[in-house]
This record gives sequence, structure tokens and C-alpha cells, in this order.
Amino acid sequence: MRSSEPLSRRTFLKGAFAAAAVLPMGASLAACAAPAEKSEPQPEDAETANPSDQENVQTQSNASSGPTSNILVAYFSATGNTRGVAEKIASHLGADVFEIEPVEPYSAEDLDYNNSDSRTSREHDDPIRHVDLVQSEPQGFDSYGTVFVGYPIWWGQASWVIEDFIVENDFSGKTVIPFCTSGSSPIGSTGVNLAGFAGTGEWLEGERFAAGATEEEVAAWVDSLGL
Ligand SMILES: Cc1cc2nc3c(=O)[nH]c(=O)nc-3n(C[C@H](O)[C@H](O)[C@H](O)COP(=O)(O)O)c2cc1C
Repeated sequence: MRSSEPLSRRTFLKGAFAAAAVLPMGASLAACAAPAEKSEPQPEDAETANPSDQENVQTQSNASSGPTSNILVAYFSATGNTRGVAEKIASHLGADVFEIEPVEPYSAEDLDYNNSDSRTSREHDDPIRHVDLVQSEPQGFDSYGTVFVGYPIWWGQASWVIEDFIVENDFSGKTVIPFCTSGSSPIGSTGVNLAGFAGTGEWLEGERFAAGATEEEVAAWVDSLGL
């Protein structure tokens, strides 16, 4: 965390982030493609997502060891889907990778949105929730000109696990490109919301991918950005 940043600003932003993720639940669920009340995908969707992709991806420099590229792909992934897309983006661009990792990883039980007492259900309903990260500020963050930010959709919103990464980094002068994975929900306003919480950076329209997004699909999107 940047010690120079006024605590009051961070506190405000974190509160706003939590409120935004909690309040629109009804609206966001309505925006899901499937009409059922619990229209989110089942956990097995995530578990079957191209595990071999991770083995095939070229090893990227992790940003915790310092920048080797002008492009950073930062992501949180609880079950591997968003990681798969992040690695495909990084592989295509030769970008650095930074994993946004919660200190306490999410177990399958934690992710059970059908259980109103699961960790994610309780966090979703808690306006003052906070998820500590192993590291919120990538080493040499200032040197990146372009930052991809990846996250899973949770209840129609960007997973709140990325909150500290968003509010504790300065995106000034950077092009920021959100991307997400979900069972069926669109990226919707999540990128716009994140831009608001960050307060800095030129945020482009993002893209949503399915769990099993192919290398070709991801590469075609990346190429369309004209970076
Ligand atoms: C707590 C929770 C809430 C979810 N909410 C939604 C949702 O609102 N809409 C949707 O399409 N998928 C939803 N999903 C499914 C995830 O977005 C999807 O499986 C995603 O690809 C997971 O990414 P990951 O493997 O990188 O964690 C939810 C999953 C979890 C665990």
C-alpha cells in the first residue's frame, strides 16, 4: 500500500467499491443471460477450463520480479478461467503477468454461491468487506504504459478481490484494458465502475470471455485493440 496516499481517500474508495458490488445485485442478476434466479454457471464450468493451457503458455516474467515489458497483464482468478485468458493475452503480447492473490485463497466451499453462508455469499452481503492481498502493487508499476486487468464476474460485478489492486495503484498516463470471464454475464458496466474507483488512467472498453476461450479468440481481441 502506498504510504503517501491519504488514508481517507483509500477508505472512501474501498467503501464505494464495496457498496457498488453489493447494491446492484438485483440489477446485475437480471442482466445475466440465463433467466433463472441463480443463473450463474456451476462450479464445474470453471474446473474444466483448459487446464493444459497453463502448461503450454510460455513462461512470463512475473511482475513481482520487475518489468521486462511495457505491458502488464494483472488478474485475479479463483478457479483458473481468468488466469487462462490472462496467460493467452500475455503470451500473445510478450507482456508481464501479475497475479492478484488473496492472502486467504478461496476454496470450493468459499465459492459456493448457492450457500448463503459461504465466504463469497457473506462477503457479497457485507458492505465493509475487505480482502487482503499478498501484494497489491506490482514492482515497477510506474513503468508500464498499458495494463490489462482481469477478473471473474461475481454476481454481475467484478470480483471484489481486485479492490486493493485498483485503489492502491496509480494508473495515471496508462491505457487500462479490463477483461473478465463469466458463465454468461456480460462485462456490462464493470470496467466503467473500475475506472471510477481507480480515478486515473485511460480505460478502454473491455471484453468478456467464456471459461474455455481459445487462443485464437483471445488473440483476435488483442489484435483488434491496435496496441
Ligand atoms: C461467487 C461467484 C459468483 C458468480 N457470479 C456469476 C454471475 O453473476 N454471472 C456469471 O455469468 N457467472 C458468475 N460466476 C461464474 C464465474 O464468473 C465464472 O466461473 C468465471 O469464469 C470464474 O473465473 P475464475 O476461474 O478466473 O475464477 C460466479 C462464480 C462465483 C464463484
